[in-house]
Amino acid sequence: MTLSVGVIGTGVMGAEHVRILRDETAGAQVVAVCDADIDRARAVAGHGEAFSDLLALIRDHRVQAVVIASPDATHADLALTCLAAGKPVLCEKPLAATAEDALRVVQAEVQLGRRLVQVGYMRRFDPAYVEMLRVRASGAIGEAVLLHNTHRNAAAPDWFTGAMAVTNSFVHEIDISRWLLNTEPTLARISAAPGGDPLMITLETESGAIVSTEVHMNARYGYHVHAQLVGREGTVEMAAPTVTLTNHVGQHGHVWSENWVPRFRDAYRIQMNGWVRSIADQHPVGASAWDGYVATAIAEQVVTALQTGNPVRLTFGQRPDLYL
Ligand SMILES: NC(=O)c1ccc[n+]([C@@H]2O[C@H](COP(=O)([O-])OP(=O)(O)OC[C@H]3O[C@@H](n4cnc5c(N)ncnc54)[C@H](O)[C@@H]3O)[C@@H](O)[C@H]2O)c1
Repeated sequence: MTLSVGVIGTGVMGAEHVRILRDETAGAQVVAVCDADIDRARAVAGHGEAFSDLLALIRDHRVQAVVIASPDATHADLALTCLAAGKPVLCEKPLAATAEDALRVVQAEVQLGRRLVQVGYMRRFDPAYVEMLRVRASGAIGEAVLLHNTHRNAAAPDWFTGAMAVTNSFVHEIDISRWLLNTEPTLARISAAPGGDPLMITLETESGAIVSTEVHMNARYGYHVHAQLVGREGTVEMAAPTVTLTNHVGQHGHVWSENWVPRFRDAYRIQMNGWVRSIADQHPVGASAWDGYVATAIAEQVVTALQTGNPVRLTFGQRPDLYL
Protein backbone atom coordinates (compact mmCIF):
# COMPACT_ATOMS: atom_id res chain seq x y z
CA MET A 1 0.00 0.00 0.00
CA THR A 2 1.20 3.53 -0.76
CA LEU A 3 0.78 6.14 1.97
CA SER A 4 -0.53 9.48 0.67
CA VAL A 5 1.19 12.29 2.55
CA GLY A 6 0.47 16.02 2.83
CA VAL A 7 3.37 18.33 3.76
CA ILE A 8 2.76 21.66 5.55
CA GLY A 9 5.53 24.26 5.15
CA THR A 10 7.81 24.04 2.13
CA GLY A 11 10.82 26.04 3.32
CA VAL A 12 14.24 24.45 3.92
CA MET A 13 12.96 21.44 5.90
CA GLY A 14 9.60 20.99 4.19
CA ALA A 15 11.16 20.98 0.71
CA GLU A 16 13.72 18.44 1.91
CA HIS A 17 10.98 16.22 3.38
CA VAL A 18 9.08 16.39 0.06
CA ARG A 19 12.26 15.39 -1.80
CA ILE A 20 12.93 12.49 0.58
CA LEU A 21 9.32 11.26 0.38
CA ARG A 22 9.42 11.42 -3.40
CA ASP A 23 12.91 10.09 -4.15
CA GLU A 24 14.06 8.08 -1.16
CA THR A 25 11.06 6.66 0.70
CA ALA A 26 9.47 3.31 -0.07
CA GLY A 27 5.66 3.13 0.05
CA ALA A 28 4.86 6.85 0.10
CA GLN A 29 3.71 9.59 -2.25
CA VAL A 30 3.23 13.34 -1.78
CA VAL A 31 -0.36 14.23 -2.70
CA ALA A 32 -0.55 17.72 -1.21
CA VAL A 33 1.70 20.53 -0.01
CA CYS A 34 0.88 23.80 1.66
CA ASP A 35 2.76 26.98 2.49
CA ALA A 36 1.83 30.51 3.55
CA ASP A 37 3.74 31.41 0.38
CA ILE A 38 1.65 29.62 -2.26
CA ASP A 39 4.33 30.10 -4.95
CA ARG A 40 6.78 28.23 -2.76
CA ALA A 41 4.23 25.43 -2.32
CA ARG A 42 3.61 25.27 -6.06
CA ALA A 43 7.35 25.12 -6.75
CA VAL A 44 7.69 21.82 -4.85
CA ALA A 45 4.18 20.37 -5.40
CA GLY A 46 5.17 18.23 -8.38
CA HIS A 47 2.15 16.01 -9.15
CA GLY A 48 0.56 16.87 -5.78
CA GLU A 49 -1.87 19.70 -5.14
CA ALA A 50 -0.67 23.03 -3.70
CA PHE A 51 -2.99 24.23 -0.92
CA SER A 52 -3.10 27.68 0.64
CA ASP A 53 -5.38 26.52 3.47
CA LEU A 54 -3.59 24.37 6.07
CA LEU A 55 -6.74 22.98 7.62
CA ALA A 56 -8.14 22.04 4.22
CA LEU A 57 -4.97 20.01 3.55
CA ILE A 58 -5.25 18.12 6.84
CA ARG A 59 -8.94 17.38 6.29
CA ASP A 60 -8.64 16.44 2.61
CA HIS A 61 -9.75 12.80 2.22
CA ARG A 62 -6.79 12.03 -0.07
CA VAL A 63 -4.30 12.94 2.70
CA GLN A 64 -3.70 9.92 4.95
CA ALA A 65 -0.78 11.32 6.97
CA VAL A 66 0.79 14.74 7.50
CA VAL A 67 4.32 16.18 7.81
CA ILE A 68 4.45 19.54 9.64
CA ALA A 69 7.44 21.71 8.69
CA SER A 70 6.04 25.20 9.20
CA PRO A 71 7.43 27.54 11.92
CA ASP A 72 7.55 26.38 15.57
CA ALA A 73 4.56 28.46 16.74
CA THR A 74 2.22 26.65 14.28
CA HIS A 75 3.13 23.09 15.34
CA ALA A 76 0.84 22.43 18.32
CA ASP A 77 -2.42 23.57 16.73
CA LEU A 78 -1.66 21.69 13.52
CA ALA A 79 -0.76 18.51 15.45
CA LEU A 80 -4.03 18.86 17.41
CA THR A 81 -5.96 19.18 14.13
CA CYS A 82 -4.25 16.01 12.83
CA LEU A 83 -5.21 14.18 16.03
CA ALA A 84 -8.81 15.38 15.73
CA ALA A 85 -8.84 14.04 12.14
CA GLY A 86 -7.27 10.73 13.30
CA LYS A 87 -4.27 11.20 10.96
CA PRO A 88 -0.67 10.21 11.81
CA VAL A 89 1.69 13.17 11.86
CA LEU A 90 5.45 13.65 11.70
CA CYS A 91 5.83 17.05 13.36
CA GLU A 92 9.14 18.88 13.05
CA LYS A 93 10.80 19.75 16.33
CA PRO A 94 9.94 21.42 18.62
CA LEU A 95 6.49 19.90 19.22
CA ALA A 96 5.28 23.34 20.32
CA ALA A 97 6.57 26.80 21.09
CA THR A 98 5.56 26.43 24.77
CA ALA A 99 5.41 23.55 27.24
CA GLU A 100 1.74 24.34 27.85
CA ASP A 101 0.94 23.86 24.15
CA ALA A 102 3.06 20.69 23.94
CA LEU A 103 1.17 19.26 26.93
CA ARG A 104 -2.13 19.97 25.14
CA VAL A 105 -0.93 17.69 22.31
CA VAL A 106 0.06 14.95 24.79
CA GLN A 107 -3.31 15.22 26.56
CA ALA A 108 -5.24 15.04 23.27
CA GLU A 109 -3.29 11.94 22.22
CA VAL A 110 -3.80 10.28 25.61
CA GLN A 111 -7.52 11.06 25.30
CA LEU A 112 -7.52 9.45 21.85
CA GLY A 113 -5.79 6.40 23.34
CA ARG A 114 -3.38 5.73 20.47
CA ARG A 115 -0.09 7.24 19.31
CA LEU A 116 -0.34 9.24 16.10
CA VAL A 117 2.35 11.87 16.72
CA GLN A 118 6.05 11.44 15.98
CA VAL A 119 8.31 14.44 16.62
CA GLY A 120 11.13 15.07 14.12
CA TYR A 121 14.04 14.56 16.53
CA MET A 122 15.87 12.86 13.69
CA ARG A 123 19.20 12.47 15.51
CA ARG A 124 17.71 9.26 16.98
CA PHE A 125 18.10 7.83 13.43
CA ASP A 126 21.59 9.23 12.74
CA PRO A 127 24.03 6.32 12.25
CA ALA A 128 26.68 7.91 14.52
CA TYR A 129 24.27 8.43 17.44
CA VAL A 130 22.77 4.96 16.89
CA GLU A 131 26.28 3.46 17.15
CA MET A 132 27.02 5.47 20.30
CA LEU A 133 23.83 4.12 21.88
CA ARG A 134 24.76 0.57 20.88
CA VAL A 135 28.24 0.95 22.45
CA ARG A 136 26.83 2.38 25.70
CA ALA A 137 24.12 -0.29 25.94
CA SER A 138 26.67 -3.08 25.26
CA GLY A 139 28.54 -2.09 28.43
CA ALA A 140 31.82 -1.76 26.49
CA ILE A 141 32.70 1.65 27.99
CA GLY A 142 31.25 0.91 31.42
CA GLU A 143 28.88 3.21 33.27
CA ALA A 144 28.24 6.43 31.29
CA VAL A 145 29.20 9.40 33.43
CA LEU A 146 29.61 12.36 31.06
CA LEU A 147 28.19 13.38 27.69
CA HIS A 148 29.86 16.33 25.93
CA ASN A 149 27.75 17.87 23.17
CA THR A 150 28.82 20.54 20.71
CA HIS A 151 26.13 22.23 18.56
CA ARG A 152 27.53 24.93 16.29
CA ASN A 153 25.76 26.76 13.47
CA ALA A 154 27.55 28.95 10.94
CA ALA A 155 25.15 31.85 11.50
CA ALA A 156 21.81 32.25 13.28
CA PRO A 157 18.86 32.96 10.94
CA ASP A 158 17.47 36.55 11.16
CA TRP A 159 14.31 35.32 12.92
CA PHE A 160 16.28 33.79 15.78
CA THR A 161 15.79 35.36 19.23
CA GLY A 162 18.15 34.70 22.15
CA ALA A 163 15.78 32.19 23.72
CA MET A 164 15.50 30.22 20.46
CA ALA A 165 19.09 29.01 20.84
CA VAL A 166 17.56 26.98 23.67
CA THR A 167 13.96 26.37 22.54
CA ASN A 168 14.80 25.66 18.89
CA SER A 169 18.44 24.40 18.90
CA PHE A 170 19.32 23.01 22.34
CA VAL A 171 16.08 20.96 22.29
CA HIS A 172 17.97 18.55 19.99
CA GLU A 173 20.56 17.92 22.73
CA ILE A 174 17.85 17.57 25.39
CA ASP A 175 16.18 14.87 23.33
CA ILE A 176 19.29 13.01 22.19
CA SER A 177 20.88 13.12 25.68
CA ARG A 178 17.74 11.56 27.28
CA TRP A 179 17.74 8.92 24.52
CA LEU A 180 21.48 8.16 24.60
CA LEU A 181 21.77 7.99 28.38
CA ASN A 182 18.31 6.56 29.09
CA THR A 183 17.89 8.87 32.06
CA GLU A 184 16.00 12.09 32.82
CA PRO A 185 17.62 15.49 33.47
CA THR A 186 16.98 16.84 36.97
CA LEU A 187 18.89 20.15 37.15
CA ALA A 188 20.17 22.72 34.63
CA ARG A 189 22.81 25.44 34.76
CA ILE A 190 23.49 27.86 31.94
CA SER A 191 26.02 30.59 31.21
CA ALA A 192 26.25 32.89 28.23
CA ALA A 193 29.37 34.39 26.71
CA PRO A 194 29.41 38.19 26.23
CA GLY A 195 26.75 39.09 23.65
CA GLY A 196 24.73 35.97 24.51
CA ASP A 197 26.47 33.53 22.14
CA PRO A 198 27.74 30.85 22.65
CA LEU A 199 25.85 29.29 25.56
CA MET A 200 27.23 26.62 27.87
CA ILE A 201 24.54 24.43 29.45
CA THR A 202 25.03 21.69 32.02
CA LEU A 203 22.38 19.13 32.90
CA GLU A 204 22.52 16.79 35.88
CA THR A 205 20.52 13.58 35.49
CA GLU A 206 18.76 10.96 37.62
CA SER A 207 21.51 8.40 36.87
CA GLY A 208 24.20 10.85 38.05
CA ALA A 209 25.56 11.35 34.51
CA ILE A 210 26.38 14.97 33.60
CA VAL A 211 25.65 16.46 30.18
CA SER A 212 27.58 19.51 28.93
CA THR A 213 26.48 21.33 25.79
CA GLU A 214 27.95 24.22 23.85
CA VAL A 215 25.22 25.88 21.77
CA HIS A 216 26.94 28.25 19.39
CA MET A 217 24.73 30.03 16.89
CA ASN A 218 27.40 32.04 15.04
CA ALA A 219 30.45 29.81 14.87
CA ARG A 220 31.12 31.11 11.32
CA TYR A 221 33.15 28.18 9.96
CA GLY A 222 30.19 25.84 9.35
CA TYR A 223 27.61 23.50 10.86
CA HIS A 224 29.23 21.22 13.40
CA VAL A 225 27.52 18.75 15.71
CA HIS A 226 29.67 16.51 17.88
CA ALA A 227 29.10 14.25 20.86
CA GLN A 228 31.47 12.33 23.10
CA LEU A 229 30.20 9.88 25.69
CA VAL A 230 32.55 9.20 28.61
CA GLY A 231 32.23 5.93 30.49
CA ARG A 232 34.16 4.55 33.46
CA GLU A 233 35.99 2.13 31.10
CA GLY A 234 36.40 4.21 27.93
CA THR A 235 34.79 6.74 25.61
CA VAL A 236 32.90 6.76 22.33
CA GLU A 237 32.53 9.79 20.10
CA MET A 238 31.54 10.79 16.60
CA ALA A 239 34.13 10.73 13.87
CA ALA A 240 34.26 13.70 11.50
CA PRO A 241 31.18 13.52 9.24
CA THR A 242 32.86 12.88 5.93
CA VAL A 243 33.54 10.23 3.31
CA THR A 244 36.57 12.00 1.81
CA LEU A 245 39.57 14.02 2.95
CA THR A 246 41.16 16.72 0.82
CA ASN A 247 44.70 18.11 0.50
CA HIS A 248 44.53 21.71 -0.67
CA VAL A 249 46.52 24.96 -0.22
CA GLY A 250 48.77 23.51 2.46
CA GLN A 251 45.92 21.97 4.47
CA HIS A 252 44.55 18.45 4.98
CA GLY A 253 40.98 17.84 6.06
CA HIS A 254 37.28 17.76 5.29
CA VAL A 255 34.71 20.42 4.53
CA TRP A 256 32.04 21.47 7.04
CA SER A 257 28.54 21.79 5.62
CA GLU A 258 26.74 25.14 5.75
CA ASN A 259 23.77 23.74 7.62
CA TRP A 260 22.12 20.63 9.03
CA VAL A 261 20.67 19.22 5.81
CA PRO A 262 23.86 17.57 4.44
CA ARG A 263 25.08 16.55 7.92
CA PHE A 264 21.84 14.78 8.83
CA ARG A 265 20.78 13.66 5.32
CA ASP A 266 20.88 9.97 6.29
CA ALA A 267 19.03 10.65 9.53
CA TYR A 268 16.20 12.50 7.77
CA ARG A 269 15.88 9.70 5.19
CA ILE A 270 15.95 6.87 7.76
CA GLN A 271 13.50 8.81 9.96
CA MET A 272 11.03 9.26 7.07
CA ASN A 273 11.22 5.62 6.00
CA GLY A 274 10.78 4.53 9.62
CA TRP A 275 7.76 6.83 10.05
CA VAL A 276 6.05 5.51 6.89
CA ARG A 277 6.71 1.89 7.93
CA SER A 278 5.50 2.58 11.47
CA ILE A 279 2.13 3.71 10.12
CA ALA A 280 1.72 0.49 8.11
CA ASP A 281 2.88 -1.65 11.09
CA GLN A 282 1.02 0.46 13.68
CA HIS A 283 4.22 0.31 15.72
CA PRO A 284 5.41 3.85 16.61
CA VAL A 285 9.12 4.71 16.34
CA GLY A 286 11.20 7.78 17.15
CA ALA A 287 10.38 10.60 19.55
CA SER A 288 6.81 10.55 20.88
CA ALA A 289 4.61 13.51 21.76
CA TRP A 290 5.71 12.91 25.37
CA ASP A 291 9.38 13.20 24.35
CA GLY A 292 8.49 16.37 22.43
CA TYR A 293 6.75 17.80 25.49
CA VAL A 294 9.66 16.95 27.83
CA ALA A 295 12.20 18.59 25.51
CA THR A 296 10.15 21.79 25.31
CA ALA A 297 9.36 21.79 29.05
CA ILE A 298 13.06 21.47 29.91
CA ALA A 299 14.02 24.11 27.32
CA GLU A 300 11.53 26.55 28.82
CA GLN A 301 13.01 26.04 32.29
CA VAL A 302 16.55 26.47 30.92
CA VAL A 303 15.43 29.83 29.48
CA THR A 304 14.30 30.80 33.00
CA ALA A 305 17.73 29.80 34.32
CA LEU A 306 19.31 32.01 31.64
CA GLN A 307 17.13 34.96 32.59
CA THR A 308 17.62 34.63 36.36
CA GLY A 309 21.23 33.46 36.34
CA ASN A 310 20.30 30.67 38.78
CA PRO A 311 20.38 26.88 38.36
CA VAL A 312 16.91 25.38 37.93
CA ARG A 313 15.45 22.09 39.22
CA LEU A 314 13.64 20.53 36.28
CA THR A 315 10.05 19.32 36.52
CA PHE A 316 7.77 17.90 33.85
CA GLY A 317 5.39 15.51 35.60
CA GLN A 318 4.68 11.82 35.14
CA ARG A 319 4.86 10.00 31.81
CA PRO A 320 1.34 8.79 30.88
CA ASP A 321 0.90 5.01 30.41
CA LEU A 322 0.42 5.50 26.65
CA TYR A 323 4.17 6.27 26.38
CA LEU A 324 5.58 3.50 28.61
N1 LIG B 1 14.86 18.51 12.52
C1 LIG B 1 15.74 19.42 12.16
O1 LIG B 1 16.94 19.17 12.11
C2 LIG B 1 15.29 20.79 11.78
C3 LIG B 1 16.17 21.65 11.12
C4 LIG B 1 15.71 22.91 10.76
C5 LIG B 1 14.43 23.32 11.06
N2 LIG B 1 13.61 22.46 11.73
C6 LIG B 1 12.24 22.86 12.07
O2 LIG B 1 11.46 22.83 10.87
C7 LIG B 1 10.53 23.91 10.88
C8 LIG B 1 10.71 24.72 9.61
O3 LIG B 1 12.03 25.22 9.57
P1 LIG B 1 12.70 25.70 8.20
O4 LIG B 1 14.15 25.83 8.50
O5 LIG B 1 12.25 24.84 7.09
O6 LIG B 1 12.08 27.16 8.07
P2 LIG B 1 11.82 27.96 6.73
O7 LIG B 1 11.67 29.38 7.18
O8 LIG B 1 12.84 27.63 5.71
O9 LIG B 1 10.42 27.41 6.20
C9 LIG B 1 9.21 27.62 6.86
C10 LIG B 1 8.12 27.67 5.80
O10 LIG B 1 6.86 27.75 6.45
C11 LIG B 1 6.07 28.70 5.76
N3 LIG B 1 5.07 29.19 6.69
C12 LIG B 1 5.16 30.22 7.57
N4 LIG B 1 4.03 30.33 8.28
C13 LIG B 1 3.20 29.37 7.81
C14 LIG B 1 1.91 28.98 8.13
N5 LIG B 1 1.20 29.60 9.10
N6 LIG B 1 1.37 27.95 7.44
C15 LIG B 1 2.06 27.31 6.46
N7 LIG B 1 3.31 27.63 6.13
C16 LIG B 1 3.86 28.64 6.79
C17 LIG B 1 7.03 29.75 5.26
O11 LIG B 1 6.49 30.46 4.14
C18 LIG B 1 8.23 28.88 4.88
O12 LIG B 1 8.16 28.44 3.53
C19 LIG B 1 10.79 24.71 12.16
O13 LIG B 1 9.85 24.36 13.13
C20 LIG B 1 12.18 24.29 12.59
O14 LIG B 1 12.35 24.30 14.00
C21 LIG B 1 14.00 21.21 12.06
